[in-house]
Amino acid sequence: RNKLGSKKERTLALIKPDVVTKIGDVMELVYSSNLMVTKAKMTRLSWSQAADFYMEHQSKSFFNNLVQFMSSGPVVAMEIMGDEATSVWRKLLGPADSAAARREAPHSIRAHFGTDGLQNVGHGSESLDAAARELEFFFPSTIGHGPSNTATFTDC
Ligand code: TYD
Repeated sequence: RNKLGSKKERTLALIKPDVVTKIGDVMELVYSSNLMVTKAKMTRLSWSQAADFYMEHQSKSFFNNLVQFMSSGPVVAMEIMGDEATSVWRKLLGPADSAAARREAPHSIRAHFGTDGLQNVGHGSESLDAAARELEFFFPSTIGHGPSNTATFTDC
């Protein structure tokens, strides 16, 4: 913890296919919230990579639509760093449903750029554990693993 009592964190900020052309606007909001982008990668997920990424939702009714959408075009994965980065980024995104975001968090990213509850601009890790797992998904460390353990992504 620093002297103000907050904690530097690394977390995953994932820009979904619906707004990949507005990445500049989203990054401005990231920087204006005192977060730093420490890694970035544009890639396209296969159906099964998107399904792996959202495995926790596999029993949900929206799972197929979600995986289909996430693999429908390029995404931008960013490692962002800053005080309480995980909760700051999720707060910046706003509620998952873009219509709810417009009502409840009118200054949030989803309020500005989201369409609905599926095409909602971005993903943020829910916890520090999830952040570590999700950063490893997009930015695999090869130390201690063979290349066979390294996810390979499709170029855009
Ligand atoms: P969730 O974990 O509830 O939200 P968040 O993205 O804020 O962590 O849901 C994960 C994703 O699943 C969400 O971003 C979009 C999709 N989703 C739907 O398509 N329909 C829904 O009703 C819900 C709840 C989520």
